[in-house]
Amino acid sequence: MATAPAKLILCGEHAVVYGRPAIALPLADIRATATVAPSPAGSGPMIHAPDLGGRWRVAEQPTDPLSRLVTTVVERFGLPADVEITIRSAIPIASGMGSGAAIATAIVRELLAYGGQTLPPAEISAIVYESERAYHGTPSGIDNTVVAFEQPIWFQRRPDQPPLIEPIVIGTPLTLVVGDTGVRSPTRLPVGAVRERWQADPARYEALFDQVATLVVAARTALAEGDVVTLGTLLNTNHELLRDIGVSSAELDCLTTAARSAGALGAKLAGAGWGGVMLALTTPDQAPVIAAALQAAGATNTLVTTIAATG
Ligand code: MEV
Repeated sequence: MATAPAKLILCGEHAVVYGRPAIALPLADIRATATVAPSPAGSGPMIHAPDLGGRWRVAEQPTDPLSRLVTTVVERFGLPADVEITIRSAIPIASGMGSGAAIATAIVRELLAYGGQTLPPAEISAIVYESERAYHGTPSGIDNTVVAFEQPIWFQRRPDQPPLIEPIVIGTPLTLVVGDTGVRSPTRLPVGAVRERWQADPARYEALFDQVATLVVAARTALAEGDVVTLGTLLNTNHELLRDIGVSSAELDCLTTAARSAGALGAKLAGAGWGGVMLALTTPDQAPVIAAALQAAGATNTLVTTIAATG
């Protein structure tokens, strides 16, 4: 069995598609798993995904993104083809927590392991990126990177060269409360809408993306210094900018407001927006209070997670 973690974008989503930096965190406790077992000779690969509602032969659904991923990996690395891949995931889909990237990463790791091979995280990430493009057109690559590397990262696309990927220094453990709006929002929809708006008014959107970049730089410093008060303020600013970019929603605004009223240091939507999850930065003592406030404000699910300090 191979696994891969969920992720949260701490700050910088959307602007990261346009070359600005963003910070992403893996969530080690919430994972997707893939298990490979032999299937009858000549059957070719089969996918069994109970949480996604199906079991199919890859040859019968060749354009399905997971089918394509499996075909690519099996053919490129000369792996055994008569396999049944069972996928389980504790990560809510279309929620901003990287379920697609985690499932794809777990599949690639497990197929390689079954064939007696391994690849470094950067190569697994590149394969998963191809798969992510089938799901949502113009991904920045941050989701597959943080999931495959499984460490807090600074990520920035660069013209004509690979993205800049750096480990992030976290000076003090972070307590985050995640609240799910329960509204499923496939990443490609808000990402596509932002692209249309940017094309219609590039000056306005470039200016917004620049403001996001400025706060992401400041967030990196606050993280390194363990200054959670400043970090919280920056997360609030990021949420306001994401509202201006047009990717918040009534539910996300309601949950972020509820978290702040309950004493969170900061709160923002996390991921592509229009639905999915938000995150609130808080202290360990205050986390249950924030979670209760989120539930009272309509969150369909909440979880408390800790991001460990580095080094
Ligand atoms: C999605 O997790 C983050 C977005 O910035 C899209 C992307 O970077 O591909 C909204």
